[in-house]
Amino acid sequence: MALLLRPFTAADEDAARAADEESMAEHQRFLVGLRDAQTWSSYLERLSDLAAGRYLEPGLVPSLKLGAFVDGVLVGRSSLRLALTGALERGPGHLGYQVIPAHRRRGYATEILRQSLIVIRSHGVDAVRLSCDIDNVGSATVIERCGGVLIDTIASSLDGKPIKRYVIA
Ligand SMILES: CC(C)(COP(=O)(O)OP(=O)(O)OC[C@H]1O[C@@H](n2cnc3c(N)ncnc32)[C@H](O)[C@@H]1OP(=O)(O)O)[C@@H](O)C(=O)NCCC(=O)NCCS
Repeated sequence: MALLLRPFTAADEDAARAADEESMAEHQRFLVGLRDAQTWSSYLERLSDLAAGRYLEPGLVPSLKLGAFVDGVLVGRSSLRLALTGALERGPGHLGYQVIPAHRRRGYATEILRQSLIVIRSHGVDAVRLSCDIDNVGSATVIERCGGVLIDTIASSLDGKPIKRYVIA
């Protein structure tokens, strides 16, 4: 599948902001950490700092946020956390992803996770931890298709909701 995972650029602003607006209707953020009225160039600079591990507030770890593109069209995104804190270990883990509603059920999340695993392993993370809400059948299927082994079900450190925790070795 010709899906390209890459950092956001200046040209991606409109598509990424539109995806962020849409994701808020699902109580999620496509552009995690984007502040109200923040300019796109300032957000891109922040992503560069996070990738390099610069100016990290307490509790933050170096991270990459990558857009997923098919034929030049933004279809989703991936967030890669290059280290774990206790809260991340009991919550979202190393990897998260999202596919824009109009592009779902075409295998894109599976491909985003497959490529994200290659990227995060290139940063030295071997046992990749990730999780999903217990009722998120789609995400659980994606994780299992990419080799995820269920560790346990716990209350998330983020909001106390039950999550399934997986590892991909
Ligand atoms: C979960 C999500 C990432 C799946 O994205 P996707 O691109 O549609 O996933 P895929 O096409 O790779 O799906 C792979 C398989 O998962 C299963 N699946 C996906 N979505 C599903 C759903 N809503 N219900 C049941 N099964 C689902 C299917 O078996 C699917 O294969 P199939 O289409 O051949 O039957 C997407 O729905 C999404 O972004 N949701 C909101 C954000 C989110 O939950 N992120 C994950 C956080 S852990």
